[in-house]
Amino acid sequence: MFTTLTIIKADVGSIGGHIAPSRRLLDTITRRIASDGESLLSDFFVGHTGDDIAILMVHPRGVGDSEIHRLAWDAFRAGTDSAKDQGLYGAGQDLLVSSFSGNVKGAGPAVAEMEFEERPNEPFLMFLADKTEPGAFNLPLYLAFADPMNTAGLLLSPEITQGFRFRVQDVSHVDGDRVIELEAPEDLYRLAALLRDNDRFVVESIRSRHDGEIAAVVSTQRLHNIAGKYTGKDDPVMLVRVQKNFPATGEILAPFAAAPYVGGFMRGSHVGPLMPVKHGTGCSYFDGPPIISCWAFCVHHGRLTEALDPFDHPFWDTVRDRAAEKALEMRRQGFSGPAMLPYSELEYGGIVKILESLESKFTVVRQDELAAV
Ligand code: F6R
Ligand code: MG
Ligand code: MG
Repeated sequence: MFTTLTIIKADVGSIGGHIAPSRRLLDTITRRIASDGESLLSDFFVGHTGDDIAILMVHPRGVGDSEIHRLAWDAFRAGTDSAKDQGLYGAGQDLLVSSFSGNVKGAGPAVAEMEFEERPNEPFLMFLADKTEPGAFNLPLYLAFADPMNTAGLLLSPEITQGFRFRVQDVSHVDGDRVIELEAPEDLYRLAALLRDNDRFVVESIRSRHDGEIAAVVSTQRLHNIAGKYTGKDDPVMLVRVQKNFPATGEILAPFAAAPYVGGFMRGSHVGPLMPVKHGTGCSYFDGPPIISCWAFCVHHGRLTEALDPFDHPFWDTVRDRAAEKALEMRRQGFSGPAMLPYSELEYGGIVKILESLESKFTVVRQDELAAV
């Protein structure tokens, strides 16, 4: 049986700043998907992390289906009306176009989808991140799918020792998707050379080289490419199939224990640690830190099991404490050096305007004039 998993995610309003959506907003979207999606979906789940709401839809219609995309778009429109009615902050902020034209890609929401033939038991993980960018998944995916120091299965499991094929997108390219495919382990150094640059090169998907099956998909949409200016950070989502011919759940989760520094945090312009959090966590310190949540499911004949929370475990309390220390350490240096993103990534116009206004005030003193002084 072929099943498609589609996540479509947007920030359409939250309470108290960019913290978390209201219960009523979540209910509005959930009810809308339940009623309008009845004939399209075999199951669905609505979750949030920080101020972003993700609709996970299970259906047989394949990726990029316009009816599925319309369903999510209409639910987010209904959510926006509810957010406006409640006076939530940033109501409708990620819906960047006024009318739907067949696919939410390029319209503001983030999308990640995969189609596969269901295994007899099909476990998968859904990740939602807030106050960060799609490249935040580069390092965790590299470690989980290409590094035997993290993933013992690359040495121990006959299904996955053949390695994985990474499809990487250049997200600075705006006219179409500029992509490259690289194979681990042969292309490991070339892959690392691209993935070091989270702002520009982003893992879009990963396939097994054993059987060509899809293993992982990441949303790669960049809001400022669509809007031409800052309208919020891109706050990515990811789906990963696990076990047997893919890394185990624990091998996919393990890289997040490093709480790696990522771009985002306050005003989408800083660097902070990616903190693995429990379901329902909002954002707080310095509008952050960047957070990552995970839902673990099985899907069977198109129906989802209940969701578990892998980051709700005592182990991750230690990681959260360490992430808080890393955040405080970086914040001690305010705007200086690596605490802020490079000029090319600064999302707000203010600093760009300051630097432009200083351009004409700079003077150049040549060596011969120096000698005359
Ligand atoms: C970052 C984020 C927040 C806002 C900040 C200012 O992705 O959402 O840090 O950038 O709270 O928000 P505005 O400009 O809406 O006042
Ligand atoms: Mg927001
Ligand atoms: Mg957000």
